Order: sequence, then structure tokens, then C-alpha cells
Amino acid sequence: MIGKICGTGAYVPAHVVDNHDLSRIVDTNDTWIRERTGVARRHIIENDTTVSMAVKAARQAIEQSGISPEEIDLILVSTISSEVILPCTACEVQKELGAVNATGFDLNAACTGFVFAYNTAQAYLTAGMYHTALIIGAESLSNLINWKDRSTCILFGDGAGAAVLRAEEGAVYPAVTHSDGLKGAALTCMSRHRQGRNEEGEDMESYMQMDGQSVFKFAVKKVPEVIEELLEKAGIGIEEIDYFILHQANRRIVEAVAKRLKADIEKFPMNLEEYGNTSSASIPILLDEMNREGRLKKGQKLIISGFGAGLSWGASLLEW
Ligand code: COA
Repeated sequence: MIGKICGTGAYVPAHVVDNHDLSRIVDTNDTWIRERTGVARRHIIENDTTVSMAVKAARQAIEQSGISPEEIDLILVSTISSEVILPCTACEVQKELGAVNATGFDLNAACTGFVFAYNTAQAYLTAGMYHTALIIGAESLSNLINWKDRSTCILFGDGAGAAVLRAEEGAVYPAVTHSDGLKGAALTCMSRHRQGRNEEGEDMESYMQMDGQSVFKFAVKKVPEVIEELLEKAGIGIEEIDYFILHQANRRIVEAVAKRLKADIEKFPMNLEEYGNTSSASIPILLDEMNREGRLKKGQKLIISGFGAGLSWGASLLEW
């Protein structure tokens, strides 16, 4: 058995903050942000929450897949930015959807989260434990960003993406994942109840803190490596892959990965110009855009690959 994606969905808030808007808050400019990151705009929540965005993306995915909410056995939500710790986002989504037969839980693997959620769902479906899974990446990163810190506030945005997977006969496709907690300090965010001052009297604010250059170097080294590891495990050549759907962190990261793999950049779709880095939502939002534009054809081979805090990184092969 294998879980096949039979529906996708996405939602981003209507409110747009472009680079010019940011240049009125911090010392930055449109040219710098575009050149260093490729980001031009990001969508930021006003009335939405992580749950409401997750529900809107999920409704689209469910509608496209032609299933009823009652058929869903498993709901996995990948998020680092839920406004509520308890109950988990997945149970809130279950309630809103009326997915009364589903078991739900959240998963935190930062920007690798959607890949880990996809693999987790596959493990359940291939084991025969569940038949239908709804996986969601949903993030309100604007709540975790220090809007006075120009090195991070330019990068991120809010949004959600979802996919419905149904078990069907077929061979399992491989996945490769890694974590390295020893390098976790490169990208951190304290929880609200740790907010305050540390022993040195410094502010320990509950905002994202990042060593941008370390994260950049980590991504351009580890993502090509994990994709090569995956291709070797699958026993297929890189030319057989139709699309590499990478976490949308930075255009220069995506370009560097394509270059290191000696693969055609046309096979690396990007939408980060419009949304910025939406962490675990970026891969399913892009997948849904491509799906709705009719760019994904039955039988095509895709690699989804994420990387981020943890540090964590991974790649999965799937056939459309
Ligand atoms: N606008 C203008 N100047 C800025 C700026 C901004 N928003 N942010 C930083 N700068 C300045 C720095 O202060 C520095 O100035 P200096 O040379 O006078 O010291 C200069 O620009 C270069 O900074 P640097 O940090 O070396 O830039 P960079 O080329 O590494 O780009 C990032 C910074 C954050 C865009 C880049 O490191 C990056 O994208 N890293 C990966 C981040 C990421 O993707 N994180 C999430 C992973 S899931």
C-alpha cells in the first residue's frame, strides 16, 4: 500500500506587506531584499489564526479529493506557530471540519515539517493502520517575528497548505530524513512563558533568532546531499525527476541547490516572491498552486524537500 495525494488546498491571508512597507519600519529596501532573498511580498494575518488558515486550506483539499470529512482517519498538522498550545491544532481542525472519525495531532519540525508530516502519514497508511489522511502545514509566523529585526522580519509570511492522502495498491517510495540537535542554536524561538531576562540580564524575547549565514550554508550543503541520498535509495537518476518542490526560504538557496545537483532550474518551481518563507506551509502551498495550474500530470515523479530549525532536513519521493 501507498498513500496517494488525491486533493490539495491552500490559503493565504489577503493582507499583503511588501518590501516598501517594511522599509518604513526597519532600515532596509526593496532592492536589498529582492537580491538577497527573492522575496517581494508576504501575506500577513489580520483576523485569521493558524487554525482558521489550516481549516480553509483543508476544506479545499477535501473538496478536490471528493471525500467527506467523516472518511478522514488521521489529521496531522505541522506547525510551529499555533496561538494555542492545548488543544492541538489538529483537534481544532477536526472540530471545524466535522471529521469526527479522525485521530489528530500536531508535529513540530519547523520548515521540514510538511515533509515529516507526509512521511508520518505514509507510515500509517502503508502499515494499514489508517486509510485516509489529511496533512496540513499552517503557520502564523508574523506572531513570532520581531518586526524591529531587519535580518528576520523580511523573510517570513503566513499561510497554510493541505493535502489528502488515500491508501491504494502500489509500491512504497522512499524518504530520507535527518536531524542535528547539536546545531539547533542556529535558529531558535523561545516559548512565551520563557520570556524575560536570562542570567546575564539580556532580553530573551519570544521571537525568532537566526544565524542567517549558518542556516544558508547548512541549506545549500544538506539539501543537495539529502536529495542525492534519496535518489540513490530509490535507484533512479536525477533526470527522471519532473519537479523538485523545495521549501521556499530563499531564491538563492533554491538556485544553489539546483546548481549543485546540476539540474535544470526550470524543474525547481518557486513562489517565494509572493509569500516569503511560510515554514511548513510553503511546500503544500506550492504543490497546490502547481496542481491547480494543471502543471502536475499523472505519473510524474516529484521530490519534496524541506530544511530548517532543529536543525532538520529531509526529502521524499512521490509519484503524482
Ligand atoms: N536590509 C538591508 N541590509 C541588511 C538587512 C536588510 N534587511 N539585513 C542585514 N543587512 C545588512 C547586514 O547588517 C550586513 O551589513 P554589514 O555588511 O554592514 O555588516 C549586510 O547586510 C550583509 O548581511 P549578511 O547577514 O551577511 O547578509 P546575507 O547575504 O547573509 O543575507 C540573509 C542575509 C538572512 C538573507 C541570508 O543569510 C539568508 O537568507 N539566510 C538563510 C535564512 C533562512 O532561510 N532561514 C530560514 C531557513 S528555514
